[in-house]
Amino acid sequence: MPQSKNPEIQIRVVRGEQIAQFIPALAWLRITVFHEFPYLYDGSDEYERAYLKTYLNSEESLFVLATDSNKVVGASSGMPLKLETDEVKAPFIQKGIDPECVFYFGESVLLKQYRGLGIGKKFFEEREKHALTLGYRITAFCGVQRPDDHARKPAGYRNLHSFWEMMGYRMQPDMRTQFSWQDLDENTASEKEMMFWIKEHPPQA
Ligand SMILES: CC(C)(COP(=O)(O)OP(=O)(O)OC[C@H]1O[C@@H](n2cnc3c(N)ncnc32)[C@H](O)[C@@H]1OP(=O)(O)O)[C@@H](O)C(=O)NCCC(=O)NCCS
Repeated sequence: MPQSKNPEIQIRVVRGEQIAQFIPALAWLRITVFHEFPYLYDGSDEYERAYLKTYLNSEESLFVLATDSNKVVGASSGMPLKLETDEVKAPFIQKGIDPECVFYFGESVLLKQYRGLGIGKKFFEEREKHALTLGYRITAFCGVQRPDDHARKPAGYRNLHSFWEMMGYRMQPDMRTQFSWQDLDENTASEKEMMFWIKEHPPQA
């Protein structure tokens, strides 16, 4: 089992149908963590559980879980891009990247008190290891774009761009899509601008 910097936190990788038992935990984490800026997501458990079931459509899907005394305190996910929605695939196709070659990362969500311990880095490392073992050479994800002067941006907030760059990802300003969700202060769902980040991995020896 992979270890994090903190010996009390266990990092566990689950794949394919093993994912099913952790869907409620990831649904809860997504609602809890995405409530914060920059997501401001007013999520529902029912919707989240239904959405996360898409990961069960492939044996190649994975969740990387961080647990503390068997409680799931953080998680990240991934699945082949070819199984993603058209909104996610379209920017790759437009750029001439074959979706068959890309392993796509979903969220990374970690409770606040567990941040800064290297768990986020582990989430990337484990998902990349999995993707490379399956023969994918491109890993990618997208992040929401919020204006710098957003009214709900907390004082001292830093985006994750330097972290993502440190992990080898390059921002792709020409690869964007829209996801729709209801912000905390909205009455209905609205479109949010999402920008993609990509890492190309050299062929393995
Ligand atoms: C993303 C997230 C999982 C990262 O988790 P984490 O365990 O705190 O990250 P790590 O401890 O592995 O930090 C990795 C590195 O990034 C840096 N880093 C972490 N958060 C950062 C931030 N907000 N801004 C800049 N750098 C940051 C750390 O300093 C560390 O660098 P170092 O190795 O040089 O010290 C966590 O911040 C989180 O859940 N955020 C809210 C949800 C979110 O925005 N998810 C991403 C999109 S889905």
